[in-house]
Amino acid sequence: MDTTAAGWIDRTGGSRQLAERARQVLPGGVSSPVRGTGVFDPYPFYVDRADGAFLFDVDNNRYLDTVMAFGPVLLGHAHPAVTAAVIEQAGRGLLYGTCLPLEVEVGELFCRMVPTADLVRFVPSGTEATMHAIRLARGYTGKPGILKFEGHYHGNHDQVLVSVTPPLDVAGTERSPVRIPVGSGIPHAHYRHTMVAIWNDLEAVARMVRRHAHELAAVITEPIMANKGFVGPEPGYLRGLEQVCRENEVLFILDEVITGFRLAPGGAQEAFGLAPDLSTFAKAMGNGAPLGAFAGRREIMALLEGGEVRHAGTYNAAPLCLAAARATLTELAGSEGALYARLDHLGRRLIGGLRGLIDELAVPAIVQGQGSMLQLYFTADDQIRSYREAMRSDRVRFAAFAHEMIHRGVFVHPDVFEHWFLSAAHSEEDVDEILNAAEGSLRAVR
Ligand SMILES: Cc1ncc(COP(=O)(O)O)c(C=O)c1O
Repeated sequence: MDTTAAGWIDRTGGSRQLAERARQVLPGGVSSPVRGTGVFDPYPFYVDRADGAFLFDVDNNRYLDTVMAFGPVLLGHAHPAVTAAVIEQAGRGLLYGTCLPLEVEVGELFCRMVPTADLVRFVPSGTEATMHAIRLARGYTGKPGILKFEGHYHGNHDQVLVSVTPPLDVAGTERSPVRIPVGSGIPHAHYRHTMVAIWNDLEAVARMVRRHAHELAAVITEPIMANKGFVGPEPGYLRGLEQVCRENEVLFILDEVITGFRLAPGGAQEAFGLAPDLSTFAKAMGNGAPLGAFAGRREIMALLEGGEVRHAGTYNAAPLCLAAARATLTELAGSEGALYARLDHLGRRLIGGLRGLIDELAVPAIVQGQGSMLQLYFTADDQIRSYREAMRSDRVRFAAFAHEMIHRGVFVHPDVFEHWFLSAAHSEEDVDEILNAAEGSLRAVR
């Protein structure tokens, strides 16, 4: 295979034409910015179909996938049980606007798997999950404030679209980070009650929580800073944060949209031994079907009964998505840990293999990860602990590396702030194929 950019362009005429047509009807040619031209040089590839660990573009090129739709596809693309469940449900109708047995069954499965879920509500996306969890926290505590962390992403609503990827020259100091909304169109009034702290610094956040306890409804955090690649929590950090929240009567919201059902059957709260008041889910629970959830302690969730705190939606608990979720969660719960052991094994093989290549080729890079999630950073540092350190890694070189991987038939997302995901459909041979492509790609960008 010709692994040069020119060779790839020769092979992808169909994608090139679609990218040109897309620019005529979709802003930026895309439906979500991370998919488009500007991220992919000179244009993205257009997918015709997906199967297991592979994507096939409209020109029938095959890509070994490490993006897995940004995390949802934990069982692999077009998983037979999930596909059969969706087809079967489609024949019974797409939406009823009333109650259905599936929501009870998926609710029971969910509450069995997620340690702190006494009650759960289903929504169509992760964005809605965090939005409703925050409203519920405000309704329960009667306080308006929330605290989020610099670099963390909780979806597309104004109150959390703050300091997600702020330019370092305007982000203030680490002691006193400045709140920066993402783009224009977000009035100050919408993030007036959002405080921003530096993650992985327990003392700093504890000071803020104590000082603002009277006005803070909740602290919301990702358990792993997964929207800046893979930045893990310092030992004891998350438990310490939970404790500080509890002592100050501030709710602790764990955003498990990425880690839920991926890190362990019960998500990061199981993996790290946490007891959040509320937690939010989406991605892996439907293996790609658009379904989210927020869940937590009975006395808090009970405010939704009778509408004391408002939560409603035409597409909440959509049958098609619930059918996918029942098949997915049944598969995950039914494997009795074997599936997670396999994912850990594959993750270790990939992380170890990449580290070996980095040493052998003397490339200034590191790999951070856990289970089936990981990221490679080009940096001279031996660890990345914070958003600001991640920002200082060589993002341009990473994008060049990812394009080299794509030209070699392995889909690595060019933005280092995304991450690599493996799935139950990946094999050891697939991991070795990724490593083989990584060797050539690392040599090319060395
Ligand atoms: C941690 C986290 N929370 C919330 C969201 C928003 O989820 P969605 O894209 O389904 O709205 C994301 C999306 O990537 C996420 O990573």
